[in-house]
Amino acid sequence: MQDSTTHMAEPAASSSRYTGIAIALHGLLAIGLIYQLGLGVWMGDIPKTPPGLRAEWFNWHKSVGLVLGLLIVLRGLWRLTHRPPNLPDSLPAWQAWAASANHAVLYLCMVTMPVSGFLGSSFTAYPIKFFGTPLPRLWDASAELKEIFSGVHTTCSYLFMAAIALHIMAAAWHMVRRDGVLKRMLP
Ligand code: HEM
Ligand code: HEM
Repeated sequence: MQDSTTHMAEPAASSSRYTGIAIALHGLLAIGLIYQLGLGVWMGDIPKTPPGLRAEWFNWHKSVGLVLGLLIVLRGLWRLTHRPPNLPDSLPAWQAWAASANHAVLYLCMVTMPVSGFLGSSFTAYPIKFFGTPLPRLWDASAELKEIFSGVHTTCSYLFMAAIALHIMAAAWHMVRRDGVLKRMLP
């Protein structure tokens, strides 16, 4: 009798939380992406003279951005092959809807940021250096295309920051309400 109670309680407990892999990828990307957004905004103010310093930070941003892009691919693959756990029944429908809408915006930005950053940089005259190693040039430089992808990169970064701010405010609100939502994503 005791055995079957324990057995029955298990599936409900495990399906109310994200898996360890999802939690690890979410945490790693949260830290990495917030760092990368801050770095991107900060590095824009580095003076162009003396030469070198600005390029070094830009190359660091590009390398970190490509690693984050790889982690985002892994996360996307995880997400496509796993259903997220059900939300607590007590959660109002509008909140569940708002959460999925904002998650969709977050995923959209997670894809657009590294792709637009890479494409923008690939159309400049300089090679992208991945932690010091120049990557092969894929196509000729184009000032016009560089401008377009840089514009997408910058505009999307604002949307991303707004969506993250909303997401963190929602997480804080769930923490105060102790409704079990935050717990799902904590190790
Ligand atoms: C998750 C990935 C990324 C995030 C969150 C991110 C974020 C940002 C932000 C916030 C800025 C400042 C925007 C502005 O004030 O104009 C920026 C600029 C920039 N980023 Fe990224 N970035 C990412 C990936 C990349 C990648 C992969 C590359 C290139 C391989 C890249 C190249 C650049 C460059 C060259 C700039 C300077 C402005 C420009 O020319 O567009 N970024 N990034
Ligand atoms: C750059 C920062 C962040 C990004 C891009 C991000 C992105 C996401 C995404 C896309 C999901 C949906 C997962 C899915 O079901 O597919 C999610 C869920 C979640 N995130 Fe974040 N997150 C960030 C930071 C944070 C922070 C700082 C916290 C709070 C401490 C947090 C708490 C949560 C919680 C509790 C969930 C689960 C929501 C639910 O149960 O539906 N996130 N996050």
